[in-house]
Amino acid sequence: MADTQRHPFLHGLSKHRGAPPTVVVIFGASGDLTARKLIPAVYNLGLDSLLPTDFYLIGFGRKPIPDDEFRTLAADAIKEFSRRELQPEAWKRIAANTSYVAGGYDDPDAFQRLKEHIDAIEKKLGREVQSLFYISTPPSVFTPILENLGAAGLAEKYAGQALQSKVIIEKPFGRDLASAQALNGTLRKYFTEPQVFRIDHYLGKETVQDLLVQRFSNAIFEPLWNRNFISSVQITVAEEVGVGSRGGYYEQSGALRDMIQNHTMQLLALTAMEPPVSLDAEAIRDEKVRLLRAIQPLRTGAEGDVVRAHYAAGMTGGKPVPGYREEEGINPDSATETYAAIRLSINNWRWQGVPFYLRSGKRMARRVSEIAVTFRRPPGTLFAEGDRFQLASNTLSFQIQPDEGLSMILNAKIPGLETRTQPVKMNFRYSTTFGSNTPEAYERLVLDAMIGDGTLFIRGDETEQSWKIYTPVLEAWAAAGQQGLESYPAGSWGPTAAEALLAKNHDVWR
Ligand code: NDP
Ligand code: BG6
Repeated sequence: MADTQRHPFLHGLSKHRGAPPTVVVIFGASGDLTARKLIPAVYNLGLDSLLPTDFYLIGFGRKPIPDDEFRTLAADAIKEFSRRELQPEAWKRIAANTSYVAGGYDDPDAFQRLKEHIDAIEKKLGREVQSLFYISTPPSVFTPILENLGAAGLAEKYAGQALQSKVIIEKPFGRDLASAQALNGTLRKYFTEPQVFRIDHYLGKETVQDLLVQRFSNAIFEPLWNRNFISSVQITVAEEVGVGSRGGYYEQSGALRDMIQNHTMQLLALTAMEPPVSLDAEAIRDEKVRLLRAIQPLRTGAEGDVVRAHYAAGMTGGKPVPGYREEEGINPDSATETYAAIRLSINNWRWQGVPFYLRSGKRMARRVSEIAVTFRRPPGTLFAEGDRFQLASNTLSFQIQPDEGLSMILNAKIPGLETRTQPVKMNFRYSTTFGSNTPEAYERLVLDAMIGDGTLFIRGDETEQSWKIYTPVLEAWAAAGQQGLESYPAGSWGPTAAEALLAKNHDVWR
C-alpha cells in the first residue's frame, strides 16, 4: 500500500500524523533560522518516527557547500540547538538522505539543477515524492524563488493532491497591503492555495493550539464569552531582548510589522472568533477572516487608538543597556518603533463595546506573552465596601510563554473571624502537568506542511485582511516621522502614553 493510502490526507488538530514520501528543500540553508529551528525540527520529527520512510533533505543557497560539509553543519546545529541530544544512529538515517545544491535564487539554471537532483531521487526510489520548498531567505528573494520554481516546473509537477508540491514561506509576508497582495499574486501564478503555507510560528506553539482546545472543549467558557460578561481583553507579547544583531532588518520593520500585524493578530483572532463548524483548516481560517473583517478602522493622532515608542537606555537583567538609536546598525535619528500598543473595537454581535488591547515591545521588563480576559465586576452589594474596597474582576489568563499555563483570578475569603475577601489565583502549569520537553513550534509546522494541513498557517485573504487594518496606521506614522513617537526606558513596561490609551476606558495594563 502506498504511504499516501496508509496516511490519508489529514486535517485539523488530528492526533494521527503521517506524511507521504517527501523531499524538503530549504532555500537559505546556510542561514540562522535553518540552523536554530529548521534542522533541529527535522531531526526531532525523525526521533519521533514522524518523518516518512522515504524522506530527503536538500539545502539550497548561493554559498557553495559540499554535501559532507552541509551534513556536518546540520549535525552541529542539532548539537547546539535541538531540544534533545544528537543520537548518532537517528541522525545517520537522516544524514544519508541529506544533500546540498548551490546556486543563485534568481538563476534559472540552478533551479534546473535542483529539478534534476529531485528527479534523480525519484528515479532511484522508483516512485514519485512530494516536494516541500521551505523559503527561509530574506524577503527580497521570495519572489525570484517563486518565479524560478514556477519556470522550472517544480510547482506543478504532481497532479495527485497528496503529492502536490508545497511551499512554506517565511515572514514577513509583505510590508503593507500592496506588497502582500503582490506576493499573493506571484504565489497564485504557480501554486493553488492548498499548496501554500504562510508561516506564523506563534500558531505552532503548544499554548496557542491549547487556546482552541480551552475555548471549545470546556463548556463553561462559551456562555460567558461575549460582551455581556467580558469587559476587556488584553494581549501582551513582551520581549526582554533588544534588537540584537538584526538592526538592518528591524529598521525596515518595527514592532507593528514585526509582531502586531501577525503574531498578536493571530492570538486575537483565535481568542475572539466564532466557534468553527469543524477543526478543518478552512473552517477555522474562515472564522478568523470573518473576525478580522469586523475590526473597526484605527484612529491615529493624539486621541487615537495607537501608541508607538522606542526604547531609551535603561536596565535589563540587572545590566545597563543602550537605547534603540545607539544600537549597532540603527540610524541615530530612527523613527522606527520598538513598541506598539493598540486599542481595537470589534463590531459584531459578540464583541461590540468590548475593548481589545494589544501591545508588543522589545526591551520590556520581562519576557511574557499572555492573553488576559477580564470579566465584568460582580455587583458590589454583598462583599465590596464602596469605593474603599472593591472586589477584583475575575480574569482568565492564557500564559503563552514562558511558564506556559492558564490561570484564573477569583475572590476568596481571607481566613479569620471577619468576612474579608482577597483575590486569589487558580493555576494550571504545563510543566507540572505535562513536563517541559514539548515539541517546538517548527516541528509541528514542518510536519503539518508535509501532511498538507494548513490549519496552523495563514491563508492569503487572512494576511491581506490584517494588512488592511494596519496599512493606514503605517502610512500615518511614515508621514508623521518623529512626531508622536514616544520613548520608554529599557526594562520598563512601555511609555506612559500606553497607560493613557487604557485609562480612557478606566482600564489598566495587567
Ligand atoms: P539569514 O539572514 O540568516 O539568511 C538566510 C540565508 O539567505 C543566508 O544564509 C544566505 O544564504 C541567504 N541570504 C542572506 N542575505 C541575502 C540577500 N540579501 N540576498 C539573497 N540571499 C541572502 O536569515 P534568517 O535565517 O535569519 O531568516 C530567514 C527567514 O526567516 C527570513 O525571512 C526571516 O524574516 C525569517 N525569520 C527568521 C527568524 C530568525 O530567528 N532567524 C525568526 C522568524 C522569521 P546564501 O548566501 O548561502 O544564499
Ligand atoms: C519573530 C520576530 O517573528 O518573533 C522577532 O521577528 C521576535 O523580532 C520573535 O523576537 C519572537 O518569537 P518568540 O517565539 O521568541 O516569542
